[in-house]
Amino acid sequence: MLEKRIDELIKILNKANYEYYTLDNPSITDQEYDSYMDELIKLETNNPSLVRSDSPTVRIGGQIIDEFKKITHSIPMMSLGDIFNYDEVRDFDTKVRKVIPNPEYVCEPKIDGLSVSLIYKKGKLVSGATRGDGVVGEDITHNVKTIKNIPLSLPVDIDIEVRGEIYMSISSFTKLNEERIKKGEKVFANPRNAAAGSVRQLDSSISASRNLATFMYHMPEAQIHNVKNQEEALKFMSDLTFAVNPNIEKVSSVDEIIKYIEKIASIRSDLPYEIDGVVIKVNNFLDQKKLGVTAKVPKWAIAYKFPAEEVLTKLNDIEFCVGRTGKITPRADLSPVRLKGSVVRSATLNNQDYIKEKNIMIGDIVSIRKAGDVIPEVVEVKTERRTGDEVPFKMIDKCPICGSKLVKKEGEVAYFCTNINCDARNIESLIHFASRDAMNIEGFGERIVEDFYNMGFLKKIEDYYTLKEHKTTLMELEGFGEKSINNLLNNIENSKSNSLERLIFGLGIKHVGKKTAKILSENYKTLDKLIEADTEELSLIDDIGSIIANSINSYFKEDKKINMINKLKENNVNTNYLSKEKNINELFLDKTFVLTGTLDSLSREEAKELIESKGGKNTNSVSKKTDVVIVGSSPGSKYDNALNLGITIWTEDEFIKNSRR
Ligand code: IVH
Repeated sequence: MLEKRIDELIKILNKANYEYYTLDNPSITDQEYDSYMDELIKLETNNPSLVRSDSPTVRIGGQIIDEFKKITHSIPMMSLGDIFNYDEVRDFDTKVRKVIPNPEYVCEPKIDGLSVSLIYKKGKLVSGATRGDGVVGEDITHNVKTIKNIPLSLPVDIDIEVRGEIYMSISSFTKLNEERIKKGEKVFANPRNAAAGSVRQLDSSISASRNLATFMYHMPEAQIHNVKNQEEALKFMSDLTFAVNPNIEKVSSVDEIIKYIEKIASIRSDLPYEIDGVVIKVNNFLDQKKLGVTAKVPKWAIAYKFPAEEVLTKLNDIEFCVGRTGKITPRADLSPVRLKGSVVRSATLNNQDYIKEKNIMIGDIVSIRKAGDVIPEVVEVKTERRTGDEVPFKMIDKCPICGSKLVKKEGEVAYFCTNINCDARNIESLIHFASRDAMNIEGFGERIVEDFYNMGFLKKIEDYYTLKEHKTTLMELEGFGEKSINNLLNNIENSKSNSLERLIFGLGIKHVGKKTAKILSENYKTLDKLIEADTEELSLIDDIGSIIANSINSYFKEDKKINMINKLKENNVNTNYLSKEKNINELFLDKTFVLTGTLDSLSREEAKELIESKGGKNTNSVSKKTDVVIVGSSPGSKYDNALNLGITIWTEDEFIKNSRR
């Protein structure tokens, strides 16, 4: 009786959910929905053993996991090759036609979100995973279940995997950022980051509150379901109640592809979600098979990316920021505009020469774009829009924070504040010390560091490690409870066991970036030995020139710095290089590797590090002594040599898989 009612309620609610979120055509009122939901919640609370995996009550969230488990994709999740103009669209079509004389294409909007794989067993959703590196992704089942247009159960009891995109609509994104500003939290740069941040939550009630949605566009094992082409696959998924994008078209010539791109570009700004291009797929699956794949992307599909968006806005003022080295960077204060899904209020102006070159005046109308998708920059001034009221830019001569006189050093374009005790510099140094590539002390972003600095708890780097002495006071601060302070203190505690390169980078020695910090730790193994090294000795190391060597040397000559390091040591901060040999893997141990071509998920440097950390050796050329050649896309002659010599070849996927054994 009870089970029957639960079954009925689940059916009603899941249907209502589908009608509301996927079809946009509700057949019951919100009040009716709420009253069925209340009834189901009550029944489930009183009868926990009757809670079903496809109950819509999971959409409310509440499940909290300890960590993200890994999920290996049965078929790797590939990404797509990018093209940026119509000539490249024509090249793609020509290449396809060499293999398939009369191809049909399916053109789809390229949704700007993150891809997801969903697995259903006997019609019930059992797992959801991110793409990860394509081979292994993260298990986000608990969060996926809260996404309203993902069906928890299908109309038929089949086993199936479907793939698509999780995204956040522009209106949900804007609302979320407004709420975050009110709470003093960092805003997300764009809807894609917001969606990715939302599925990476351990607590599913957070993702439930984020209004995520999906479009499904891929069936990796279509043939099992007797589905012969992409058009049928989309229909098949739509019949299974998945959300499928409505603006998809089948075409059969390159001119029609281009027409489709133009049509989508023209409706782009009216869409309620962000797209960053168009995906063109050969329709027939047998044709897809004939075309095949390269090491990382299919040859039967391609992504046409829209050109970077530019918008016009007014430059209201020029402000000045002080970095951790004292460097002064002018910044444009702009009238807020929406650009690629986020609201832009400022843009970097680099230095005074840049402002002169671009002929920028205060009050100008400027066009801005996002370089590398994140940092906005001024492209040009619309001089034809000048009214005569614009004010010429004037470089400041005093630090905007501490008032000290600014100086321009020889060989540098920028001005510097030379007051080593300038608050802005101190704060930036503290933020840098805790940043991800340095000591990686999570939680110490701009806001907290600035607050703790101004309150006097965190004035110098060494203060991080005595912060716990202020625990009771910190816990009483508004906005911080015991839990958040414990978290921060734990993160500090954990940073004590970092390897030396993180500490060296975190110290913020001028000209010592992440890579140099690594070279120094590998060469000297302990901080004490590095401190003892003189300029001459340092310059003998590959990649360390005299400028870096001098900078290192003068840094450690300062008593203040040595005192700080002694305090870090007293607080048990590790100052030794921790070799990574403990990761030894027999597939790599004592073997000689050669890399050729471009890898998708790792830089060459990272790939080499991975090989060495597993006990392998890197060399540059293929010979009989080479054990394995790792082949990325567009490999060079090393690949041919390896084939001729019969040497073992690993694709990128095999390399990653083997490294995880
Ligand atoms: S098909 C093997 N279709 O774009 C085919 N991808 O740049 C795999 N994306 O990783 C992808 N909209 O996250 C496909 N309609 C669409 C898409 C789409 C967005 C994303 C997806 C993929 C990335 C590649």
